[in-house]
Amino acid sequence: AKPEPLKIMISGAPASGKGTQCELITKKYQLVHIAAGDLLRAEIARGSDNGRRAKEYMEKGQLVPDEIAVMMVKERLLKPDSKENGWLLDGYPRSFSQASALKEFGFEPDLFILLEVSEDILVERVVGRRLDPVTGKIYHLKYSPPETEEIAARLTQRFDDTEEKVKLRLQTHHQNVEAVLSMYEDITVKINGNVSKEEVFAQIDRELKNLIEQRKATSGSL
Ligand code: AP5
Repeated sequence: AKPEPLKIMISGAPASGKGTQCELITKKYQLVHIAAGDLLRAEIARGSDNGRRAKEYMEKGQLVPDEIAVMMVKERLLKPDSKENGWLLDGYPRSFSQASALKEFGFEPDLFILLEVSEDILVERVVGRRLDPVTGKIYHLKYSPPETEEIAARLTQRFDDTEEKVKLRLQTHHQNVEAVLSMYEDITVKINGNVSKEEVFAQIDRELKNLIEQRKATSGSL
């Protein structure tokens, strides 16, 4: 029988490298990447009422109200590809109420990855981050520069990626992180996110391999 697909959450402060690691994880493990921030930005781009409301909060570095964030993530998790291939949930849950809602809907992760990065590094990562609107790829002017002049010329910056706004986002993160962690204590792995993206991925990859091995061992003993 086909093994149960993996259900993974990845969490960490703003610019701790969640999106970057998700690119590497999905490439190797083919999970469906569901990023709360990306869903919200897509809603803003669509010009919907929810998008307009969400942007007001995102500009202040605050959490978007649950009725928008929770429903958006729930709908995405319920799509057939997430059920079939497994999911990698990025930037959700960010509060106790979001974690509880997910549990009520029956979504329980196998592993909770926490990226730990020191604050001075976070600010540097935010300020240098750039995005390719064509491929969606994340760059950093110093740490992951674009491969060609053509890509360099089209890179954009996120509206909340200023030093001032990242401080507000960090505040929001600190206010909520403990409550979320307390929900997933027994399945949490803490990853040193201060090192290069390849070294961060090597740590995550080891954890995912362990998880798959453990599952094989338990299903074999049934
Ligand atoms: P969201 O889009 O999720 O932003 P965030 O949590 O602040 O995280 P980021 O996307 O900024 O960073 P990341 O950790 O993905 O880092 P990245 O890989 O890009 O949320 C935005 C807003 O939406 C929130 O403030 C909130 O208002 C709202 N929102 C989102 N989710 C919500 C929810 N659940 N409920 C309510 N509201 C919600 O890396 C950053 C940079 O560093 C890049 O340039 C990258 O190239 C570089 N980099 C990455 N790793 C390394 C490395 N190891 N070494 C060197 N450079 C690196």
